[in-house]
Amino acid sequence: MSLQKILGQVPVIPVLAIRDTAQAVPLARALAEGGLTILEVTLRTPVALEALRLIREAMPDIMLGVGTVLQPEDMDRAANAGATFAVSPGLTKTLADAGRYSGIPLLPGVATVSEMMLARELGYRSLKFFPAGPMGGPAALKAIAPVMPDLAFCPTGGVTAENMADYLALPNVFCVGGSWVAPDTLVQAGDWKGITTLARKAVSAAGR
Ligand code: 3PG
Repeated sequence: MSLQKILGQVPVIPVLAIRDTAQAVPLARALAEGGLTILEVTLRTPVALEALRLIREAMPDIMLGVGTVLQPEDMDRAANAGATFAVSPGLTKTLADAGRYSGIPLLPGVATVSEMMLARELGYRSLKFFPAGPMGGPAALKAIAPVMPDLAFCPTGGVTAENMADYLALPNVFCVGGSWVAPDTLVQAGDWKGITTLARKAVSAAGR
């Protein structure tokens, strides 16, 4: 199954920066309870991979990706920790190679048409459009669709409950990503019900 088909099973992929391992499983449970069962745990905190392992153990059915992958070594770390996919904010030649030879697929980030062309040349068809809002939002992806109809995107960066449907209505968008479904204030307060509510709202706003 292509990465786009796998990730397209959910409308939203929560982008998580877990600071405390004790919060990892309750957070993942809250999101899954709300219908979001594919999560991206970013390498932005020192405990990210440990958090991923804990979720993996407690919730074997949930699909986990490692995000904020910046260099080839991160691909190995992600695969060894039990991630099913990896996400990078941009793409370099060495990362593109690592993504091809790693045991898990890479969703590389692109922001401009030239970067999309380069990613395409390097064999990637499923891409993260980042940072989606500042780079033109849904209008930018709409303009790109006829130029490179074989590319499909997961826009991330500035996506919200209010604008997510505009992205998901585009034929070249398979899902969106964002941190708004797991805001740090709710995580730190342990407001898991609040997070489930946000996840449910996102699923229903997606209308699919
Ligand atoms: C990401 O890494 O995908 C973004 O930082 C998430 O962007 P957001 O916080 O605007 O949702």
